Parts: sequence; C-alpha cells; structure tokens
Amino acid sequence: MHKVVERTRIVPNIHLLRVEAPDVVRKVVPGNFVIVKVNEFSERIPLTVADWDEETGIISIVFMTVGASTHKLAQLEAGDEIEACVGPLGKAQEIGEYGTVAIAMGCYGIGAVLPVARALKQAGNRVIAIMEARAKELVYWDDKYREFADRFFVTTFGDAGPDGGRVSDVIDRLIGEGEKIDRVVAMGCMFMMMKTAEITRPHELKTIVSLNPVMIDGTGMCGVCRCTVAGKTQFACVDGPDFDGHEVDWVELVYRRRSYLDEEVRALSEFECNLY
Ligand SMILES: Cc1cc2nc3c(=O)[nH]c(=O)nc-3n(C[C@H](O)[C@H](O)[C@H](O)COP(=O)(O)OP(=O)(O)OC[C@H]3O[C@@H](n4cnc5c(N)ncnc54)[C@H](O)[C@@H]3O)c2cc1C
Ligand code: FES
Repeated sequence: MHKVVERTRIVPNIHLLRVEAPDVVRKVVPGNFVIVKVNEFSERIPLTVADWDEETGIISIVFMTVGASTHKLAQLEAGDEIEACVGPLGKAQEIGEYGTVAIAMGCYGIGAVLPVARALKQAGNRVIAIMEARAKELVYWDDKYREFADRFFVTTFGDAGPDGGRVSDVIDRLIGEGEKIDRVVAMGCMFMMMKTAEITRPHELKTIVSLNPVMIDGTGMCGVCRCTVAGKTQFACVDGPDFDGHEVDWVELVYRRRSYLDEEVRALSEFECNLY
C-alpha cells in the first residue's frame, strides 16, 4: 500500500497527487512512468512521474480526469492509501545537448514533461516552452517553466484572438520567423502530439512524442500497448513511451485507443452512480 500525502485540484480537470513510493524514487529518471491501482476493484493505469523527492521518497503525479479511474484518483485525500504504485517503468527520455529544444505540452503533459524539460536545460540546451490549453483557466505551472525556459508561450485553442491556437501553430510560426529549433519534445493528448509531428515533418525537425496508449501490465507481457513505429511493432511500455513522432502510425494508435470506448463510458457511468 502507498500512502497519499496530497491530492490537490490544480485547475478544474487537472490534479496533483503526491504518494509515498520510495522504491520508485530510488531508480526514477525523467520520462519514467508508474502503474497505479487505486483499490482492489480498480484497473491499472499508467501515469508519468512529474517530480520526486529523494529525502522523503515521495513522487508527484499530475493527472487529468477523463474516465472512471482518474475520477477515483481525484477523490483521494491526504492520509488515504492506494493499492499499488509500480515502477519506475518505461525507457528514460534521451537527454543530450541538441541546441534549441522546443517542449510542446498540453493537459497532463504540462506537469508530466517538467523533469524532462529541466533535464534538457541542465544538459545545456536552450529551451522554448510552449503550453496549450483549451482556455486560460486551464493553464497551470507556467511559473515553473518561466523559471528556466529561454522563451515561453501559452496558447489557448478554445479562445479566439492573438493568443488562440495550438502548440503546432506556435511552432509553425516560430519556424517561419527563422527560429532555429533542433529538437521538439511533445507530451500530452494524442491529437496535440500528432499535430506537432505533422507540422515538424516537412522541416525534418526531430520530434519525440511520449505515447499514451492503453496499458495493462506495463512490462511488455500483455501486448495491449502495441503500436507501429517505423513499420515495426513496438510495445510502448518497454520500447517507449518515447518515439520519433514522424515514424508513428497515428491512425492505428487512435483506433486502438478507442478499442474500449463502450466499456470506458460504462465504467464512468457506474462510477458516477456509485456502483463501485
Ligand atoms: C506512459 C503513459 C503515461 C501517462 N501519463 C499520464 C499522466 O502523467 N497523467 C495523466 O493524466 N494521464 C497519463 N496517461 C494517460 C492515462 O493513463 C489515462 O488518461 C488513464 O489511463 C485514463 O484512465 P480512466 O479510467 O480515467 O479513463 P478511460 O476510461 O481509460 O478513458 C476515458 C476516455 O478518455 C479518453 N482519454 C484517455 N486518456 C486521455 C487523454 N490523456 N486525453 C484525452 N482523452 C483521453 C479515452 O480515449 C476514453 O475515451 C499516460 C499514459 C501512458 C501510456
Ligand atoms: S502494457 Fe502490456 S505489453 Fe505494454
């Protein structure tokens, strides 16, 4: 069992969860994730480690409420316990000295990509942080990025006006203005990552995306997280979750992500009716 130290709503659909997980802290590196199970009746869901504290053994997770499991997580209070928090899992994000790196982020990815962005800065890169949200009210942790980013942008795709648009629009504009970007790292919803990869493809601008397919075991055994990258089958949990966005078969990924849509809708309705 893992003790919950904090669960706070950051913006309406995004929460911070801090959990005691000393075994995870001992080995975690930027880009790793954990598999969390709230109680014995819950499913296992993958969540990225957004921060950790070596002294206390506490990890931070930033999650977005989308279905039954994340809504269950959002009900936790400090002092509660969760059944499992297994990890760290997945390969570490590649951290090198590339030059200028643009961090493309949205929804939970704003919190989840923070250790990667910080590590890239510490490795000597110039970092351009680009954050997207549906509306200004859903923007969070901009202060954390402003602390170290060399350039910082927020774009809100639900709003009209000069600040409206997607991360991919900002990248497109920057390239058009002559900004030399050497690498893009994208984390957040699949659509944002796919659009970002589309925009950078004609410029042959290396774009690393952190894939978020459905996962069960997270250790390469069940095959549920299967995706096609560069024409080859990959398991996102052990071969990723980071891949070259220009090589991902996005159409297959989107279809596979929707495989359990009926069950997900039913689980959320049952949860809302307090059936479990
Ligand atoms: C390696 C990895 C790391 C991840 N890290 C995080 C993280 O740090 N924080 C986090 O919040 N999530 C993260 N995710 C996604 C997270 O695992 C799912 O959102 C979660 O499993 C949803 O469970 P649920 O039961 O609440 O919703 P489900 O019932 O599984 O899904 C409900 C509906 O929401 C849709 N949906 C699911 N995820 C998303 C999404 N991200 N954006 C938009 N729609 C979505 C589904 O397609 C479905 O229609 C990660 C996924 C992977 C594979
Ligand atoms: S989650 Fe089972 S193989 Fe990846």
